[in-house]
Amino acid sequence: MNNDASNFFNPARREFLRQGTLLTGGLIAAPLLSKANYFSGADDTIKIAMVGCGGRGTGAVTQALLSKQNVKLVAMADAFRDNLDTCFKELNSVDIAESTGGRGNLKGKIDVPEEHKFTGFDAYKQAIALADVVILATPPGFRPIHFEEAVNQGKHIFMEKPVATDPAGIQRVLAAAAIAKQKKLNVVVGLQRRYQNSYRELFKRKDMIGDITSAQAWWDNDGVWVRPRKYNQTEMEYQMRNWYYFNWLCGDHINEQHIHNLDVINWFKEGYPVSAQGLGGRQVRKGKDHGEIFDHHFVEFTYADGSILNSQCRHIPGTMSRVDELLIGTKGKIKAGDANITDHKGKVLYQFDKKTENNAYQTEHDELFAAIAKGDYKFADAERGAFSTMTSILGRMATYTGQMIEWDKAINCGLDLHPKVYDWNVLPPLVPDADGHYPIAIPGVTKYF
Ligand SMILES: NC(=O)c1ccc[n+]([C@@H]2O[C@H](COP(=O)([O-])OP(=O)(O)OC[C@H]3O[C@@H](n4cnc5c(N)ncnc54)[C@H](O)[C@@H]3O)[C@@H](O)[C@H]2O)c1
Repeated sequence: MNNDASNFFNPARREFLRQGTLLTGGLIAAPLLSKANYFSGADDTIKIAMVGCGGRGTGAVTQALLSKQNVKLVAMADAFRDNLDTCFKELNSVDIAESTGGRGNLKGKIDVPEEHKFTGFDAYKQAIALADVVILATPPGFRPIHFEEAVNQGKHIFMEKPVATDPAGIQRVLAAAAIAKQKKLNVVVGLQRRYQNSYRELFKRKDMIGDITSAQAWWDNDGVWVRPRKYNQTEMEYQMRNWYYFNWLCGDHINEQHIHNLDVINWFKEGYPVSAQGLGGRQVRKGKDHGEIFDHHFVEFTYADGSILNSQCRHIPGTMSRVDELLIGTKGKIKAGDANITDHKGKVLYQFDKKTENNAYQTEHDELFAAIAKGDYKFADAERGAFSTMTSILGRMATYTGQMIEWDKAINCGLDLHPKVYDWNVLPPLVPDADGHYPIAIPGVTKYF
């Protein structure tokens, strides 16, 4: 194992660590630190805690443990004990051959005794306290609360996208992101295209297409799982299990998945839209277990320079599948799917060698943990993650209302979709009618301001 911790045993760093531990105040009182609290143990082990032990949490922790640093999983938190148990079992049986070509498993890197397994709505606080780095992979509705707590506790963070589901959540993430910067906490957001070789190579060459005048983005496919209601579930438990279909938890699929494509356009545009208008609805996916989200959105986003992004996302089986981005400039095009750059006649000006593509999910952890092991402050993804999440939310507000929505008005409108209290017996903000159907946004009727 490569324990890249050459400067770890430095006494000044130890003193710094001690101070970091003493200075765990509220966000507002956050001290300005020159170096972050990198490790908490007596050796160079980087301790991680996971919050959200579902599919992606399991994947992200696997990737963290597969990074070349001395990483150990020490705590787990999930709303549900059964999900935590499934994840624990899976992590203990991961066969690393597929990802590393090596032999063995990750058991030696998992040290989570029973008393470090936490469940319920408050589980995150205890798990975060035990770690140097936290992996936040719950449904995105909880990300602002969990991110804020992790920053407050002075931890480095990997958090999945999206980072919120409403403008109030975005504001919380932005406020915590500013403190994370002051504390020099590394923060990586799981918008993994930014860690993918082909995208990085295209980005380096984006000037080849001149000024970007328009763009297109697609997340069109069949859609995702449904977790049907079970006998004896409270409404809160049902929505928490079937979270994809409720906006306070998910933010609709334009937020949950299409954010990847919107983020790529924002990245290459080096900016965010100033307004959006669009159309959408639910034509096929409209059963009782489909909550309130739409099954299609088409949004025209306008950037400050007047350029337009035409974005579409659809979850309808039997329709065209495409997950991709296209940027059109004054001199040519960047085609993410083809990983190339062409002129307007189709002549290829640059072709990325697909044989050199990486697993970006692994790279984001390799780079994050290498920085942490070295004591480097290298990653501050939270703010841009929040702005790309806001781009998705802006799109949703546009399709739900059928109105032109301005960024500044939307991000400051205070819309908060969350329950006041998180409790299994409290009713979530959205409840079904007597037939079990939920209220759905209606363009022309739904209004935010
Ligand atoms: N970057 C990517 O390509 C990618 C891929 C898949 C998922 N994701 C993201 O990862 C996140 C999780 O998705 P998933 O597919 O793993 O979902 P999942 O349903 O498989 O897992 C979510 C887990 O979080 C738990 N949870 C819910 N609320 C919680 C709370 N308040 N505290 C603690 N645990 C809580 C659930 O019980 C569940 O075990 C989503 O934001 C999703 O967008 C990203």
